Amino acid sequence: MLREEQVRLLRGLISHLDAGTNVDAKGIVENPADTYTSEERFSEEKNKFFEEYPQIIGMSGDLPEPGSFLTIEDFGAPVLATRDETGAFKAFANVCAHRAVIVENDKKGLKSKFSCPFHGWTYDNKGKLIGFPKPDHFGHIDKSCYGLKELPSVEKYGFLWVHPNPKGVIDVNALLGPKLMEELDSWGFGDLKLEEETEYVTDMNWKLAIDTFGESYHFSTLHKNSLFESFHGNVQMFDTFKRNSRITLCKRDIDGMKEEPEEDWHICKGAFPVYFLFPNIILNVSNFGIILVRQYPLEDSPHKSVSKVSFYYRSDVLKELERLGVPVEEIGSEGFGSVIRDEDYVVAAASHKGMRSGLIDKITFGRNEPALHHYHNTFREALDYQKLPLIEL
Ligand SMILES: [Fe+2]
Repeated sequence: MLREEQVRLLRGLISHLDAGTNVDAKGIVENPADTYTSEERFSEEKNKFFEEYPQIIGMSGDLPEPGSFLTIEDFGAPVLATRDETGAFKAFANVCAHRAVIVENDKKGLKSKFSCPFHGWTYDNKGKLIGFPKPDHFGHIDKSCYGLKELPSVEKYGFLWVHPNPKGVIDVNALLGPKLMEELDSWGFGDLKLEEETEYVTDMNWKLAIDTFGESYHFSTLHKNSLFESFHGNVQMFDTFKRNSRITLCKRDIDGMKEEPEEDWHICKGAFPVYFLFPNIILNVSNFGIILVRQYPLEDSPHKSVSKVSFYYRSDVLKELERLGVPVEEIGSEGFGSVIRDEDYVVAAASHKGMRSGLIDKITFGRNEPALHHYHNTFREALDYQKLPLIEL
């Protein structure tokens, strides 16, 4: 993050703490319960957000070396993503040109050739059909016309984008805007190492997971014995970047920072930035590295979803953890991961149950929860719904 922005955010948090204030949306917003429970709304979201929108499938660290590959089906389209011997990132439909069978079934690994399990048609990591059995019997087809269908792909600032539609366009500038591009570039996320991946399946609408990340108003109750020990609750900064936004949560380590010269400040010492990248990405930045949460609906249902959580670390942090004998799981899946699984998602599932009962027709986002106002309105705008009005109090 740029130096001036780090200082602005830390100063802002300190002044909120001193004054006993929080970020203020100047009003509340009411969100209809059917935002989460309606089948009709869900099918619009599935189409516009997951089938016809560029998807962040992970970070550069997911394909760490030439010959790395991964497969993903979370947003519907079966995708095979590769890093070829020149280091270039590419994405293809993971569908055999012969009989449409899924070619590669492993989730991740090192492989530069992919053979279809049905008849053994084999492709290289540039999607080219390099061989198939018994051409004398099958027929001498033109192999160059039977490659894997390429999907638009972009690797930038350490993110891997894929468009599920072969004719789709990934315009990073249009997605992020220059300010967020400059900021994401400044972090150096491309150098981070993937150390751990986990997933949590929950009976809740996919957007409810995002809602649990969007404010710190709940820290002193839900996270009283976990996050609240290291974070101040109900104090944050909030900024928007087109359809994306960033909240900056406040760590208790900020308390001693006032005495330090501002030149020595680092954002991750006193704060914890969380980016919401439209539509389904939550990117948490810590002093260890990042935690990427990708949120997807499951079983074609508004009532079930999965959080795919990946933990990436800086190399110097990994060395230090090794020296101290601290396993990464202690910070990752058993640390942060267990808090969201056992605390946040438990209440989010309860909220889904409450809304599904039909006994409440709306939920309310406070003046201190502006991220929820913003991204719910971006969802609505993208679906051609009217913005939720701000109710001034
Ligand atoms: Fe939480």
